[in-house]
Amino acid sequence: MTPAQFRNFIWTWYRKNGRHDLTWRHTDEPWHIFVSEVMLQQTQVSRVADIWPQFIRRFPTPRALATAPLREVLAAWRGMGYNRRAAYLQRAARIIEAEHGGRVPADIERLQALPGIGRNTAGSILAFAFDRPAVFIETNIRRTYLHHFFPGKTDVPDSAVAAWVARTLPKKDFRKWYWALMDYGSAALAGVPNPNRRARVYAIQAKFAGSRRELRGKIVQALLDGGGSAPAIRARVQTLLQGRKISARVFDATLAALLAEGLIHRRGGRIAIRS
Ligand code: ADE
Repeated sequence: MTPAQFRNFIWTWYRKNGRHDLTWRHTDEPWHIFVSEVMLQQTQVSRVADIWPQFIRRFPTPRALATAPLREVLAAWRGMGYNRRAAYLQRAARIIEAEHGGRVPADIERLQALPGIGRNTAGSILAFAFDRPAVFIETNIRRTYLHHFFPGKTDVPDSAVAAWVARTLPKKDFRKWYWALMDYGSAALAGVPNPNRRARVYAIQAKFAGSRRELRGKIVQALLDGGGSAPAIRARVQTLLQGRKISARVFDATLAALLAEGLIHRRGGRIAIRS
């Protein structure tokens, strides 16, 4: 398929099958889109659809988020997973407030300089919030390009995928184009063996990483009910894990990581969420 044929094919598919039910596609308020893209990085669409509207109502501007106590941010983030992203989002809001006059910058370098915003999220914000011709990759976009332009190839690096994204970019309607690519990758390719297995970045999440992440989440959840000593927190976490045992070593290491990241703090012997 030539780039022009591919564009026609995707546009035709999108006219018939595009998703118009996703609430964050009905706004062009950059901060609201910024929040949705951070949420959609690692959380499924249906979950974001539940949480994003409430989050936006509670924190409608970067300033509202920048000035909120972290525990309120984490409470509004509940159900999203990866709590660290909520703390990063708040730090990003503070930088937007302090350095960009309270407005999301329409600039790839400034976006990428914000905590929690990598190259691809920065690109998605440029495309969705500002309708700019950014080149970026996300899981459904990767599937689409691997399927159409790398049949049978394995160990395909994202740089090669990005080259095709750039080559096939239309001349206008970038926001809509990326909606179309994402919808096509998630809906139309749902029935084929996942092309992303052939991507270099593809890696089944290690069991170890999974258990660490779950433990991080439980520790934060336990602390949302109030601070306490390390053994008290560990006992609460143990309850949340419904008796599944965690070793003291793993618990201590995970707690130390959360402390080092500044998500929680220790005052005397008492550990609490930083406010
Ligand atoms: N619509 C806008 N951004 C999206 C994303 N990251 N994932 C799915 N749908 C979207």
